[in-house]
Amino acid sequence: MSQATPSRSTWSNRWAFILVTIGSAVGLGNIWRFSYLAGASEGSVGVFVVVYLVCVALIGLPLLMAEILIGRRGRGNPVAAMLNTAAESGNSSWWALLGWVGIFGALMILSFYSVVSGWMVDYFWRSLVEGMNVSTPEEAKAAYDATMANPWRQGFWHTVFMILTVGVVARGVVAGIETANKIMLPLLFLILIFLAFWGTVAGDMPAALNFMFNLKTEAIKPGVVIDGMGHAFFSLSLGMGAIMAYGSYLDKKTNIGHTCLWVAGVGAFIGLLCGAAIFSLTFRYGLEPAAGPGLILQTLPLAFTHMPGGRLVAILFFLFVIFAAWTSSISLLEPFVSWLTERYGIRRARAAWGTALPVWLLGLAVCLSFNEWSEFKIFGRTIFYLLDHFATRFMMPLSGLAIAIYVGWRLGKMIVVDEIRLKQRTFNLWFDVLRFVVPVGITLIFFYELVLRNWLK
Ligand code: TRP
Repeated sequence: MSQATPSRSTWSNRWAFILVTIGSAVGLGNIWRFSYLAGASEGSVGVFVVVYLVCVALIGLPLLMAEILIGRRGRGNPVAAMLNTAAESGNSSWWALLGWVGIFGALMILSFYSVVSGWMVDYFWRSLVEGMNVSTPEEAKAAYDATMANPWRQGFWHTVFMILTVGVVARGVVAGIETANKIMLPLLFLILIFLAFWGTVAGDMPAALNFMFNLKTEAIKPGVVIDGMGHAFFSLSLGMGAIMAYGSYLDKKTNIGHTCLWVAGVGAFIGLLCGAAIFSLTFRYGLEPAAGPGLILQTLPLAFTHMPGGRLVAILFFLFVIFAAWTSSISLLEPFVSWLTERYGIRRARAAWGTALPVWLLGLAVCLSFNEWSEFKIFGRTIFYLLDHFATRFMMPLSGLAIAIYVGWRLGKMIVVDEIRLKQRTFNLWFDVLRFVVPVGITLIFFYELVLRNWLK
């Protein structure tokens, strides 16, 4: 049954693994998604933020460890890793379904992730060549609406972003993915520190922090608690085989628990820092934090136009977003590519370009769903929302739940103990959380998304 190839690549060292995993985690989720969800939950933002943090610790961290465990133990792409560990532990090969959901789900996410990243490349290009030049909120909104209305423009930048993504994955695990992360992440940190500093000087940091951590709410908005939980999931890249694939290149010596603490800690920290910088500018320029998915593309250009040195800050900011999105998108392509190369012996470069083609086509449909095809709806949703909602509300929670059940209840303690070498008390704590807290928490998200949300609205 074993599908793993004998000569698998391995990350250069433990820090390389931490770096690539942080690279996968920190992305549009922390910048674009976090700020618009937090902004949209005005009135209960503190609740959203605290729930997000608690869930990173209680659901995200345990699952992150479980996913890496499967990947490393199974020594193969997500499908092979599931098959191998299931065979080793005497479980049904049906568990491989989890690997399939992962490799296809990741491609689904990539199709719209690449389009949204394309908007960011577009805005980067504009700040580079002509400056943002929007002086009123109306102008900023008009510029954003015009971007959304133009499928050619979106399609073009989506294509550029896909090429960037494939370019890295095609080069391989160490030469491509690890190297790209080693170059981009330090730059990303530097820019972020600068931006947070600038956000403090040029923006209204006290107002931002007050906004984000104000727990005194009149009434907790329905949905805020669950959204916080769902976001913890998305922002840690969980449930889609990405982390499993990365874990499969991890050597046996590295301590999974310590590694995951770093990843979850740094991921959440960057999320908060981005949020603080974005909101501090939003408030300084009297903008609306509840602008929705267009938040950073509408409020920030306006802030950039008015602040001293704004053009340079704009360029750096969008560069930062591109780096963050790029190091994440490669982790969405890798699971499927590693499956193709290992299962069929297809050369990596060919596998990467071949996989990207259908994803790119689906992405073009996503571009059209904002304009020409905006009336075309399945289950009342445009293609963009259909893909997003199906993946993040349906596939991710379900596959996270399955992973918790698999590692917590089916894999057998021998294997788990052998992979997760923690002191006994810490181990027991983690294992209990994985067996009980995680399944119950995820069931709540899922129940809410499928059932309660429809009733509440
Ligand atoms: N975590 C990334 C972000 O916050 C997105 C992402 C990358 C992802 N790989 C993933 C989400 C795998 C789910 C599954 O932008």
